[in-house]
Amino acid sequence: MRRARRLPLQELAPYLLTAPDPPRPVSWPEVFGNDHPVEIEVGCGKGLFLLTAARACPQTNFLGIEIVRKYQLYTATRMAKRGLKNVRVACADARQFLHDCASSSVQAIHVYFPDPWWKKRHLKRRLFTPEFVERGARVLRPGGRLHVVTDVEPYFRVISELLSSQAQLVPLPPPDSNQPTHDLDYLTNFERKFRKEGRAIYRGMYERRSE
Ligand SMILES: C[S@@+](CC[C@H](N)C(=O)[O-])C[C@H]1O[C@@H](n2cnc3c(N)ncnc32)[C@H](O)[C@@H]1O
Repeated sequence: MRRARRLPLQELAPYLLTAPDPPRPVSWPEVFGNDHPVEIEVGCGKGLFLLTAARACPQTNFLGIEIVRKYQLYTATRMAKRGLKNVRVACADARQFLHDCASSSVQAIHVYFPDPWWKKRHLKRRLFTPEFVERGARVLRPGGRLHVVTDVEPYFRVISELLSSQAQLVPLPPPDSNQPTHDLDYLTNFERKFRKEGRAIYRGMYERRSE
């Protein structure tokens, strides 16, 4: 696959949200210029999920949070080339960013193929901790959903335990995987890679309680 040429920063500016730019708590109408529902993808990588979702749901706002600047710019380039108006990409640590979001302000949080950080000394870099789960649950609206997908079975068990023990969240049956019909018809870049390799994929979905 050919690498997309990155657009100049000037052209990407409408898509970029760079910490500490956003006011705290983050005001979604200020970020997107409307009050449509907001969905967040944590660790958006090269942005395939955002691209597909933003095209399919133009009345929903999507924010990708990506800690690596070059992926923020890569994703923003993909959005800008298609003229998508309902996507922004923040370069930030999602753990802090969620802390800065208003309670009950987000319709969905998507976390696809979070880095497993196998080595013991790197474990503290993992996204899924009791604190991250508490922040995610607080930021979701009642009825809002958290979606998580990984190819790492032991990490999935840890994630499932953390999410299931969060009192605000209820586990739901996750959606089935699709039958891709072309190379962009995958949830994310990592999903495409791992499904082509025939690896097992673990999916979870949780809903924020209404009360
Ligand atoms: C394994 S990649 C998966 C990328 C994408 N979700 C996919 O499925 O193709 C994990 C991504 O999460 C990003 N990431 C890791 N820790 C993060 C954090 N604390 N906040 C935001 N992004 C993070 C990494 O830079 C990387 O792009």
